[in-house]
Amino acid sequence: MTSADARAEIRGYHAVLAAAKNTTRYSSDLQGDRDVRDYKQIPLELDAPDHTAFRNAVQPLFMADAIAPKMPRFQALAAQLIADIDARGGGDITTDLALPYVIGCLTIVYERPQDYDEWLSWGPDVWLADAYAAGEVTPESQRAHRERRFDVESQRSGDALHGYLARVFDDAEARALAGEPERDVWDTIARLVVNDRTLTRDEMFGIASVLLAGGRDTVIKLITGLVWHLVKEPADREYLTGNPDAVARTIAELGRFLSPLAKMERIERGPDGEALDYVILNYASANHDAEAWGDPEVIDIHRERKPNAAFGMGRHSCMGKAIAEHETRAFLSVLLRDWPDWVFSREPEIEWVIDGEGDDAIRIIDRFTSVPVRRATASA
Ligand code: HEM
Repeated sequence: MTSADARAEIRGYHAVLAAAKNTTRYSSDLQGDRDVRDYKQIPLELDAPDHTAFRNAVQPLFMADAIAPKMPRFQALAAQLIADIDARGGGDITTDLALPYVIGCLTIVYERPQDYDEWLSWGPDVWLADAYAAGEVTPESQRAHRERRFDVESQRSGDALHGYLARVFDDAEARALAGEPERDVWDTIARLVVNDRTLTRDEMFGIASVLLAGGRDTVIKLITGLVWHLVKEPADREYLTGNPDAVARTIAELGRFLSPLAKMERIERGPDGEALDYVILNYASANHDAEAWGDPEVIDIHRERKPNAAFGMGRHSCMGKAIAEHETRAFLSVLLRDWPDWVFSREPEIEWVIDGEGDDAIRIIDRFTSVPVRRATASA
C-alpha cells in the first residue's frame, strides 16, 4: 500500500454516500491511528459479520432510552459551568465550557465520576494528552489527526489512554471473577459475550478506545461551534428561544457545517476481495457539496432538513449520535434559558483550512483555538 499522504479521497455528497454503503468494495477492516495503537477500534474497524455481532453487543450502551434519564444531570452540569464563567467575569468557550462539559457528561454516561480529573487532564484529544498536559499542542499534530495521516511526525501518543485502560480493565476483570455486581461501563465491557465467548484484552481496548476517543473532540467542537454561532447571531438565538422545536434542526445544521469527524479511512478492495489501497471518505466534502446544499458555507438554521454526513452514512454510521445529541440538547436548553448576555471579549481565534483543490475546494473550520466571552453588561 502507498503512504498515507498519497491516498485518494472520495468527495462530494453522492459519491461519499454510495461509497459508505458499498462496504464490500470499501472495507472498514483496517487498523487506524497506526502511530499510537496496535489494536482495532470496535466496531468501527470491522466488516460484517463481526461488525454486526459487536455492534449488536455494545448497542445497549448507546440507546437513547438509556441516555434520556441522564439529561437532568447534563443540565445541572451545564448550569454550573455557565455560572462559573459568569462568576469569573468571562472565560473561554473551548477550555472553560465545552471541554469540562463533555468530559463531565462522559463520566455521567459511563458512571465513572471518579475519573473526571484524569480525563479532563487529557484535553480534547486523548492521543495528544501528554502534549496537552505540557501546554504545547501544535496545530500540525491536530491537523494530522483530522487528515487521518498516521505516518507523519506528530506529538501523538497512546500512553495516557492505554495506561488508564490497563488499570480499569484489571480492576473490572477482578470484579467479574469475584462475582461483584456491574458498576460501570468497564464492568459491562469486561463481561460482554460476543460470538459465544468473552472478549480479549485487545477487544476491550478496542471498544473503550472509541468510547473515550470518539465521543470527545467531536462533541467539544460541536458545542463550541454552537455557542460561537449563537453569540455571533442574536437573531438565531432569539428564534431558537421562541421555537424550541427548531433545536434538533439547528444541531443537525451545525453538525453539517462543522463536520467534526471530517474524514474516515477505508481499504478499497478489488473484484476478488484483494486489498488495493487506503482511501479516504471525505464526510466534510459531502456536507459542503454546493450541489447538495445551497450556500454550504452559510450556517442556516432554517435550512430544509435532509440527511447529512456529520455522523457518517450507512452501516458504520455513528453509534454515539444519541449521546452527542442529548448532551448538546441539554446544554442548549440551559444556555437559552439562562442566556448570560455573552459577547466576544476579543475576536475568536479560529483555524480555517481549504480542503481539496480547484473547483472541488471547500473552506472549513479545522479547530476553535479560543472563543473568549464576557457578559455585555460586565464592567470588564
Ligand atoms: C458530534 C459528535 C460526533 C460525531 C460528529 C461523530 C461522527 C462519527 C462518524 C462520521 C462515524 C462513522 C465512521 C465511519 O464511517 O467509519 C462515527 C462512528 C462511530 N461513533 Fe461517532 N461521532 C460523534 C460522537 C460520538 C460519541 C459521543 C460516541 C460514543 C460515546 C461515538 C461513538 C461512535 C462509534 C462507536 C462509532 C462506530 C460505529 C460503527 O462502526 O458501527 N461517536 N461517528
